[in-house]
Amino acid sequence: MSDRHKKIILAAYPEGMPRESDFRLEESPVPKPGENEFLARALYLSVDPFLRMLMNPSNAANATSRKEGPITDVGRVMAGGFVGEVVESNNPKYPRGAIVEGILGWQNYVVSDGWVNKRHNPAGVVVCDSTLDVPVSLFASVLGRAGLTPYFCMTRELRPQAGETAVITSAAGAGGSIAGQIAKMAGCHVVGICGSDEKVDWITRDLGFDVGINYKTTPDIGAALRAACPRGVDVHYDNVGGPIMEAIAALHTPGHRYRLVGIASAYNTVPDGQTFWAWPYEKPMFVVHDYTKEYDDGIREMAGWIKEGTLKYREDVVDGIENTAKAFIGVLNGDNIGKRIVRIAD
Ligand SMILES: NC(=O)c1ccc[n+]([C@@H]2O[C@H](COP(=O)([O-])OP(=O)(O)OC[C@H]3O[C@@H](n4cnc5c(N)ncnc54)[C@H](OP(=O)(O)O)[C@@H]3O)[C@@H](O)[C@H]2O)c1
Repeated sequence: MSDRHKKIILAAYPEGMPRESDFRLEESPVPKPGENEFLARALYLSVDPFLRMLMNPSNAANATSRKEGPITDVGRVMAGGFVGEVVESNNPKYPRGAIVEGILGWQNYVVSDGWVNKRHNPAGVVVCDSTLDVPVSLFASVLGRAGLTPYFCMTRELRPQAGETAVITSAAGAGGSIAGQIAKMAGCHVVGICGSDEKVDWITRDLGFDVGINYKTTPDIGAALRAACPRGVDVHYDNVGGPIMEAIAALHTPGHRYRLVGIASAYNTVPDGQTFWAWPYEKPMFVVHDYTKEYDDGIREMAGWIKEGTLKYREDVVDGIENTAKAFIGVLNGDNIGKRIVRIAD
């Protein structure tokens, strides 16, 4: 067990693409849990694109009404998904040895009473289901919010049907790769848009997408989409927004279903004060937290698909807490294939 508490602190609000110098690593003695609290040591941390949108002064100001906890405010431990093992506990809900998951921040140890970040994550800190018998890392990747997002958006809202055409953006990312496979399971013609030939190869050869389009080397995305979707687009799962979203929307069929799930093309340029919930598109953005009460069902069903081989996933693992900021910046740059996570310990 490490005898130091290491945490990634937001050192400055980034301008545009974050730089490693916007973060710093701080160390202090490992904290002790108080009454009703537990101490967990991190196994995996999650680096997620949406965090970039919260890394600005107005979002941080909104969040400071909360009690202490990781948040995207200068001087605080960076918010971010945490999967770890309870090593000391004064709270019977989180017994020693339990694997817990929550937005507990980029740090190698955390003390919590389970409440932390309920405003941004209504599920609070959850005890992961050990009966599923899956690798612990999955709770930070495909069985975490990154996988639950496409699961609930596809199965509860977009509901792809056999014979329909589905288009997925950021198709080789954590969420897009799952969304496309769920559309394939339903019998759709599935088109994925992503940012490299290696990503196109993965989604078409390994995941079963029918067509992959590398938007970085395709001069006319509209023409490529028209060729890939001759009957139009019935199901549109959008992770990126911007001009790619508009090119897909131009092909919507009369009965189409569409959800904007993320705006990866714009996180570095969203003006301070703009939030997911106020994004000025035709509909509010999909929010996975609306399905908090059903998380256990989603996790169980996806774990079943993984075990029977119906659902494939890829973890893009970076080692060491000191590399967390770099790993996060890499996701914003599109360096990841599948879900990028940071391994702190096995
Ligand atoms: N609404 C919710 O409840 C919810 C929950 C979780 C995640 N999300 C959102 O869902 C989206 C996907 O999240 P994820 O964790 O699965 O991330 P991800 O797709 O694994 O990683 C982000 C990807 O965005 C792509 N990207 C970056 N800049 C881009 C640009 N200018 N244009 C097009 N694509 C760009 C990159 O892939 P390329 O190489 O393909 O460019 C990068 O790999 C994110 O926008 C995230 O914020 C929403």
